[in-house]
Amino acid sequence: MRVYLETERMILRRFTPADVDLVTALDADPAVMRYINGGRPTPRDEIRDDYLPWWLAYYERGDRYGFWAAIEKGTGAFLGWFHLRPTPEDPDDDPELGYRLHAAAWGRGYATEGSRALIHKAFSGLGARRVHATTMVANVGSWRVMEKSGLRRVRTFRQAWPDRIEGEEHGDVEYALTRDEWEAEQDPLS
Ligand SMILES: CC(C)(COP(=O)(O)OP(=O)(O)OC[C@H]1O[C@@H](n2cnc3c(N)ncnc32)[C@H](O)[C@@H]1OP(=O)(O)O)[C@@H](O)C(=O)NCCC(=O)NCCS
Repeated sequence: MRVYLETERMILRRFTPADVDLVTALDADPAVMRYINGGRPTPRDEIRDDYLPWWLAYYERGDRYGFWAAIEKGTGAFLGWFHLRPTPEDPDDDPELGYRLHAAAWGRGYATEGSRALIHKAFSGLGARRVHATTMVANVGSWRVMEKSGLRRVRTFRQAWPDRIEGEEHGDVEYALTRDEWEAEQDPLS
């Protein structure tokens, strides 16, 4: 197991091709996919042939950013995943944070715990200048995670979604934190 990061209750490890069924099961829950594509499951062959090879390519080229499986330390359960990586439109030092967890894991602080650890790593070890995240205004849980992780709302905008998603008329929000802001918040005694 190639561990990327450890938090109090989770291990973030590299994905492998053997994770195809875990990821398929995650995306099979309409509640999980509600604000991603309106609730549609991702077909298993798409995960096997498109998503996993895309994620594995980050490790293969030695990228410091990427996608990681979140494993609950106590049980070994697959909770879902986190990503920290610039999109093709982003500068290299401005990665986007994201997360997708099983409904059974919601409401227990896992998304915030993983996000805070990734933001810390981005600024302390990866040379990031800024970390950002976006979500639909209607996805309150997601932007609450951003707020609780220390990101600040920088703009509301309108993104064209390929699927009809409930609440899309309320638009999207971007949250971000710069390295300077992050450094100013660090406790010099810790
Ligand atoms: C969004 C998501 C990652 C939140 O994960 P989580 O582990 O439940 O989040 P946390 O437990 O860290 O919660 C953080 C805060 O958000 C709040 N929150 C979580 N879901 C909420 C919801 N649906 N409505 C309102 N608040 C919510 C929590 O109460 C908590 O605040 P509190 O501590 O003040 O009570 C999870 O719901 C998920 O995976 N959803 C499906 C995929 C998805 O939408 N990903 C984001 C795409 S942009």
